[in-house]
Amino acid sequence: MNPVKKILKKLLIKAGIIKKLPTDKPYTYSSFYPYMPLSNLSDDELLSLMRHEAHRIEKSTYNNIFKAKYSMYLEKAKRLDCIFLIFEKRNRFTTENTVLWAKKIRISFEDLYEGFISPNSSDAREYNFTHLDSFSKQISTRRSVRVWSKEQLQRTEWLEIAHTMIDSARWAPCSGNRQPWKFKILIDNEDKLLLDKLKEEHCTSAPLLIFVGMDRRVYGSLSNKDYETALFVDAGAAIMTMITGAHESGLGTCWNHFGRDLIESRKVNQEAYDRFCKKLNIEDYIEPVAILAVGLPKYIPPTPARMDIKDLLI
Ligand SMILES: Cc1cc2nc3c(=O)[nH]c(=O)nc-3n(C[C@H](O)[C@H](O)[C@H](O)COP(=O)(O)O)c2cc1C
Repeated sequence: MNPVKKILKKLLIKAGIIKKLPTDKPYTYSSFYPYMPLSNLSDDELLSLMRHEAHRIEKSTYNNIFKAKYSMYLEKAKRLDCIFLIFEKRNRFTTENTVLWAKKIRISFEDLYEGFISPNSSDAREYNFTHLDSFSKQISTRRSVRVWSKEQLQRTEWLEIAHTMIDSARWAPCSGNRQPWKFKILIDNEDKLLLDKLKEEHCTSAPLLIFVGMDRRVYGSLSNKDYETALFVDAGAAIMTMITGAHESGLGTCWNHFGRDLIESRKVNQEAYDRFCKKLNIEDYIEPVAILAVGLPKYIPPTPARMDIKDLLI
C-alpha cells in the first residue's frame, strides 16, 4: 500500500470510520471484505459470496423489503456483476449450476417475482399429518451403530452410497445458501487407519467413512468473529440429512465428533490430524466437524431412552 493511503487508512481507523483489519483471521470475509478487491478472492469464496448475495436479493421479495431498500440490493446486484465478470476473465464456471441460478436472479432483478419467482415456483404440496406422524415413528428407529456385520458390500457399492448420501446432503438447508460443505470419502484401510487412536475403533473398522468439514473462508461476513456459529449448524443439517437417508435404506451410521477441541486436546491428536490432512489433501481452511461411520450393522443396539416431550417444552 502506498504511504499516503497507509496514513489515510490509519486516520480513518482512529476516527472509527473503518475497522482495523484483523490480520490474524485470514479466512473470514471480515478480514478482507469489503477492503479487499473481489478479484483477490478464490473461486470458492466468490461462488459462495455470489450465492449469498443472490439469495439475499431473492429473499427481499418474499419479505417485501426490495423497494424500501432498493439501493442496498442494487449494490448486491452490482457485486454479482463483478463476480460474473471475474469468472469470465478466469474462464471459469460457464455452466456451473449455482452461477446459472444467480444469473437468472440478476437478469430478473427489477421484477424478480414475474421474471424468476413465478415461473420457477411450484404448487404447494397437500398437507398430510399421517406422513409427519409416520416419519416421526420411523426416525425413532434410527440408532448409532458401532458394530458392523462381517458381510459387507463391495467397494463400488460404498462409493455409490457415499455419493448418494452427499447428493442428499447438498439439499440440506444452509445459512445464506452459501453451501460451504466439504466431504472426503474414505474406503481404503490405509486412509481409515489414519484415524487410529484419534477416533474410536468403530470408525477405523467401518466399511465407509465420510469426513465432513466446512469451508471457513466463506463465514464471517455477518460478524467480526473468527467464524459464525452457523458453520456448525450447517454441518449438522447436512449430516442429519445423510444419516436419515442411510437409515431409510437399512444402513447403520454413527455420527462421530471430529472438532478442533478433540484434535487440539493432545499433541498426538494434532499430529495424527496433520497426517490425515496431508495424506487426504484437506486444506487448512477446512474446519473439521465430523466423521460419519457407515456400514451394514451386525445388530441394532438398544434404544437409549429419550426425554419426555413435556420436559423439552419451554
Ligand atoms: C455432535 C455429535 C457427536 C457425536 N460424537 C460421537 C463420537 O465421537 N463417538 C460416538 O461413538 N458417538 C458419537 N455420537 C453419537 C451419539 O453418542 C448418539 O447419537 C447418542 O448417544 C444417541 O444415540 P442414538 O444415536 O442411537 O439415538 C455423536 C453424536 C452427535 C450428534
